[in-house]
Amino acid sequence: MRAPRGTQDILPGNSEKWQYVEHKLIDLCRRFNYREIRTPIFEHTELFQRGVGDSTDIVQKEMYTFEDRGGRSITLRPEGTASTVRAFVQNKLFGLPNQPTKLFYIGPMFRYERPQQGRLRQFVQFGIEALGSDDPAIDAEVMALAMDAYRELGLTSLTLVINSLGDKESREKHKEALISHFASHREELCSDCQVRLDQNPLRVLDCKKDKDHPAMGNAPSILEYLNEESLVYFEKVKSFLDLMEVDYIVDPNLVRGLDYYNHTAFEIMSNAEGFGAITTLSGGGRYNGLVEEIGGPQTNGIGFAMSIERLLMALEAEKVELPIEESLDCYVVAMGDKAEHEAVRLTYQLRQSGVQVEKDYQQRKMKGQFKSADRLNAKYVIVIGENELENNAANVKDMDSGEQKEIKLEEITNYLREQLAGGKS
Ligand code: HAM
Repeated sequence: MRAPRGTQDILPGNSEKWQYVEHKLIDLCRRFNYREIRTPIFEHTELFQRGVGDSTDIVQKEMYTFEDRGGRSITLRPEGTASTVRAFVQNKLFGLPNQPTKLFYIGPMFRYERPQQGRLRQFVQFGIEALGSDDPAIDAEVMALAMDAYRELGLTSLTLVINSLGDKESREKHKEALISHFASHREELCSDCQVRLDQNPLRVLDCKKDKDHPAMGNAPSILEYLNEESLVYFEKVKSFLDLMEVDYIVDPNLVRGLDYYNHTAFEIMSNAEGFGAITTLSGGGRYNGLVEEIGGPQTNGIGFAMSIERLLMALEAEKVELPIEESLDCYVVAMGDKAEHEAVRLTYQLRQSGVQVEKDYQQRKMKGQFKSADRLNAKYVIVIGENELENNAANVKDMDSGEQKEIKLEEITNYLREQLAGGKS
């Protein structure tokens, strides 16, 4: 039996990297005052149809949708924003005194995509959402946090690409311009784009099949259609990024794959050699109007998400070694039945007192037990032998210095804790 295509097992040796990265991200959120939200892995299909948008690839082709035994249409969440907004509305978080509501999430998302490096069918997204503010400073804050997430882990080959999709009025004008621009090329475009042209022409600019069509290159840019308000907003966002010294480039062709965006849209790309064909590390933007779409009061929002898989790929491409120590505080070696009994008791006592301990469970000989201790990189080895037991004691060996000491059994826990807290980390 094999795991389904596009899924992966994260095994020990690798899972420590995940834990390290997740702790770092959680600490970053703490400093920026984003608090965790956990929403269900599945939702009513309608949430994503309305939230993510009917004309998106996600809703049209990529959702894991099924009917449950009660006949309801259920979908495994393909992203976190729609669910977060649903929870914000359902739990009336907009009514809490502290606004904006600043949330983060880490969890698996599901998209039926063609698997390749950096593209999975189950992947883990870390994302943040700030709901209830249209201050351009919060747009800049979200982008700064996104960049810091990578930079604090040691990545350097990064580009923040930003664009403005403008407000509704600006987008309507741009939409008309796109329709008339592509009208004479309609038949040359792929069948998906012909539909997109009617439903959501902006999506055409994001087409993977038609990306080299000559009409793409000179398609009207949204930036030329921004009204005064949208322009001013965009300028403010950029000036806040400048103030925080967050570097960026403006790409008027940046279109995101989800329908809910307006004003700020951004992606972070990896420029690392060997990162792979997909260079986008994360993406996000502003979604004023989405909360109302999901049935809540008028509330503006902005957020972004990244997959941990692509983050780890970038760390590998940039050869960043995470400071993960694979060692063990202590290994208990026992010789003989009596010693074995004492080893069971002592191991448990040490564990309860906070020491990380392992012992043998394979009836290995002493040499084999020492080998295990070595393989596990044990800092200390406690050797319980018949002779020492008669003295109610055991030998504690410091594996770094080779130094050995006979310590009374009742003092071992304190002794070891002191040693571990002292000179050794
Ligand atoms: P998205 O651009 O669809 O946006 O996805 C965001 C990130 O999720 C991508 O940049 C990538 O890191 C990761 N990702 C997406 N699909 C896959 C996949 N198949 N395999 C591996 N990683 C993947 C959203 O999901 C929005 N909800 C982001 C957002 C939050 N906008 C506002 N708030």
